[in-house]
Amino acid sequence: MELAIGIVAAYLLGSVSAAIIVCRVMGLPDPRLDGSGNPGATNVKRLYGNKPAAITLAGDFLKGVIPVIIGHQLQWAPLDIILLGFAAFIGHLYPVFFGFRGGKGVATMLGVMLGLAWPIGLAVIGAWLFVAKVLKISSLSALIATFLAPFFWYLYGADSSWIWITALMTAILFWRHRSNIGRLLRGEESLIKKKAESKD
Ligand code: G3P
Repeated sequence: MELAIGIVAAYLLGSVSAAIIVCRVMGLPDPRLDGSGNPGATNVKRLYGNKPAAITLAGDFLKGVIPVIIGHQLQWAPLDIILLGFAAFIGHLYPVFFGFRGGKGVATMLGVMLGLAWPIGLAVIGAWLFVAKVLKISSLSALIATFLAPFFWYLYGADSSWIWITALMTAILFWRHRSNIGRLLRGEESLIKKKAESKD
């Protein structure tokens, strides 16, 4: 019963789309209507600049960290802890408060990874930052970093539930990036700084 309540609470927290709320509060148009159409920090940065993007990033990241930290504090089993993070991730992708039209889950997944174990969280975030610095493409950075995440858990000796549920999150994240993958393959993907032209 406690786990079910925790999963619902984490899903509801994940459903609080930082991008949509930040834009509403700052009097900016809904980020789902322009650029890549994604309610995430990258699209907010392209459309409206660094400040709303940084707040969006922090908000979506914390949605992943908080449920997992609470699970740790309650000394739940590894599977139950990552299920809380998974529920927040799904909430971000399919938010009940915003017509189930959410983001792609990168910041929230990175938050879950950091909340589960900080060395692995930093490794995944570091991989994202490194690729972003070199290639300046947000989607590709996310795809590479999250692809590596299950292998990092394996090398870390994590509980198998963390390896497999991370792999599931990566697979879902790839699915949510299918438009980006198409643009990457065609050599048309937007850079982090440049305003995107195509919609998802
Ligand atoms: O975090 C989302 C990012 O990976 C892709 O965003 O706006 O380029 O589709 P975007």
